[in-house]
Amino acid sequence: MQLGIVTLFPAMFAAVTEYGISGRAVRSGLMNLELFNPRDYTTDKHRSVDDKPFGGGPGMLMKTEPLMASIAAARRAVETKHAAGADNSESKGTKVIYLSPQGKTLKQDSIIDLAQRESMVLLCGRYQGIDNRVLESEIDEEWSLGDFVISGGELAAMTLIDAMTRFQPGALGDEGSALEDSFSNGLLHSPEYTRPQSINGQGVPEVLLSGDHEAIRKWRLKQSLGATWLKRPDLLQAMSLENEQEELLEQFKQDYLRD
Ligand SMILES: C[S@@+](CC[C@H](N)C(=O)[O-])C[C@H]1O[C@@H](n2cnc3c(N)ncnc32)[C@H](O)[C@@H]1O
Repeated sequence: MQLGIVTLFPAMFAAVTEYGISGRAVRSGLMNLELFNPRDYTTDKHRSVDDKPFGGGPGMLMKTEPLMASIAAARRAVETKHAAGADNSESKGTKVIYLSPQGKTLKQDSIIDLAQRESMVLLCGRYQGIDNRVLESEIDEEWSLGDFVISGGELAAMTLIDAMTRFQPGALGDEGSALEDSFSNGLLHSPEYTRPQSINGQGVPEVLLSGDHEAIRKWRLKQSLGATWLKRPDLLQAMSLENEQEELLEQFKQDYLRD
């Protein structure tokens, strides 16, 4: 995946390019990030990247011309790289995404869809955000982390990049593990245990030590349904459960109410 990132704080992206699973995906070439700083596209001697809003009010906005120039440069670079590596010439489909509290909230299914794309430009806002004309002319999609406001789009862009990396073929040690994560099948992940087998008098559910794969699968599904019922009942309401799932959830509820 080719990513062009427009940001006033490119150094922040070391968090995804140097560490963990996303760092490994970058080093192996699965994800290619190129950073574009609007400050490098200024033409005044102070290299200003912010400006006052018309009509007054608190705060500043990102200055329009450097922002537009850096978005154009990012789009060009990503499309050129994508065209060079692609089997076909479908390189013009690169979307410009603005990370914004006003966007659609990111969920696991949107991450899975976005992760299929071969290229994108991510715009990280700062200050009070961007001029509405940039929004109308340059931005294809707005995506949000949730209904709260953070100080800049960098953490949102890095969150998106990290989450998409989990769905790049070859990025995880075990291909299937992202599909077993919470939300991928609509449910929360079941509880997990590692060594030691006993700690401070707390053991591990016997079934996990049994070697009976079918019993373990059923136990995990039951716990996954139960965790979702207890912690995120809204997720269950949005699903239609299969017969086996209905039965296991009923058993979980009975066990839970009995204990
Ligand atoms: C202080 S915020 C601006 C908020 C803007 N004045 C508003 O109320 O809609 C600065 C930047 O942080 C980013 N940002 C803030 N909250 C976000 C969220 N929930 N999801 C994604 N990006 C966010 C956006 O890029 C935004 O331009």
